[in-house]
Amino acid sequence: MNAAKGLKGVVAVETSISSVDGKNGILLYRGLEISEVMKIASFEKAAYFLWYGKWPDDHEFCTLKNELSEHRMLSSEMKKLIDGLPKNMDMMSVLRTAVSSEGTVDYSWKPTIGQAIRLTAQVPSIIAYRKRTLEGNAPVSPDPDLSHVENYLYMLYGSLPLKAHADALEAYMILTLEHGMNASTFAARVTASTESDLVSAATSAIGTMKGPLHGGAPSGVIDLLNEISEANDIEKVLRHKLTSGEKLMGFGHRVYKTHDPRALALKERLLQTAGEDPWLDLALETERMAVELLKEYKPGRSLYTNVEFYAAAIMKAIQMEPDLFTPTFTASRMVGWSAHVLEQAEDNTIFRPESVYVGPDRSVAGKTN
Ligand code: ACO
Repeated sequence: MNAAKGLKGVVAVETSISSVDGKNGILLYRGLEISEVMKIASFEKAAYFLWYGKWPDDHEFCTLKNELSEHRMLSSEMKKLIDGLPKNMDMMSVLRTAVSSEGTVDYSWKPTIGQAIRLTAQVPSIIAYRKRTLEGNAPVSPDPDLSHVENYLYMLYGSLPLKAHADALEAYMILTLEHGMNASTFAARVTASTESDLVSAATSAIGTMKGPLHGGAPSGVIDLLNEISEANDIEKVLRHKLTSGEKLMGFGHRVYKTHDPRALALKERLLQTAGEDPWLDLALETERMAVELLKEYKPGRSLYTNVEFYAAAIMKAIQMEPDLFTPTFTASRMVGWSAHVLEQAEDNTIFRPESVYVGPDRSVAGKTN
């Protein structure tokens, strides 16, 4: 028996939350193409859709917004805990520790949508509180009149965000709410499968998301765009990288062997504002040139932009600092993780795969020459 390294090709769960079709470049949330979700939904509506499997009516939507807003306020214990963390602790480790401390509130088995809402509300507040206090700024209290994404930007920067900025970030956050059986979602489901609580599952997921092979921030794309901007010559920079065998950041994907549907949806949204922002224009022009050059240097490989490329363009355009990229991804993915934990709890079997022993044989173990 051979191990399926990285569980490649192994089907670990059945889910009705999302479907990732890498061959055809299709991502469905609850059966609906992501581009359609983007047209209909705000962050709150899309989250409701993933948790409940249906769209909210007006009353349900209002209730969800109220619940999210109610749970945005951090407790004094939570603030004290964050204040006591080492100043050089990175934001993902802060999030992991702070979310873990939420376990003092009632999160006992079985997980509920109410618990999922509370955690989703808390994460942006934790990020904003840590960011502001670390930089010597007064923390900003949440504003119940703002949407989830507007309020996140407001708590981070202390002023009402531009509508274009909030819209662009909301598009990114909707697109990254959920993405099948990725490593952090799997980690959340494994933890939940022991009938441990949602906070423990979320803590496992954050620790998993932190690794550069998973939640790796799109900062490489920022570096690429900065380099191009400084050189003022897109083709020259890209050709130099491809000739020297460097990968172009923000292009290619392990699962999608055609267009990444999230990149397409984000690009479509960005096109509405690109004319107003030189960074978005630069990103669009870089994509056009890179796709052309990738065909020349890597013929037949079908390399296109992935979601990280446009995420970077958005973060740069709204002037979000690179240390916030992965935490912001986490703030949206909390919805997907919690939806999976709820699904796991509905029909639970503990995860317990086999391993193949490849150590010394009984006859030689412990014997020395
Ligand atoms: N730039 C240049 N060449 C590339 C790129 C790229 N971005 N991506 C793949 N290639 C090349 C490979 O070198 C390979 O060439 P070869 O056949 O001559 O050896 C060929 O295209 C095929 O590569 P794949 O097998 O498709 O790549 P793989 O699945 O191993 O890797 C990955 C996918 C890691 C995403 C890769 O495309 C990459 O490193 N891209 C840049 C980093 C990046 O943008 N990461 C974010 C991914 S999105 C996300 O994680 C949410």
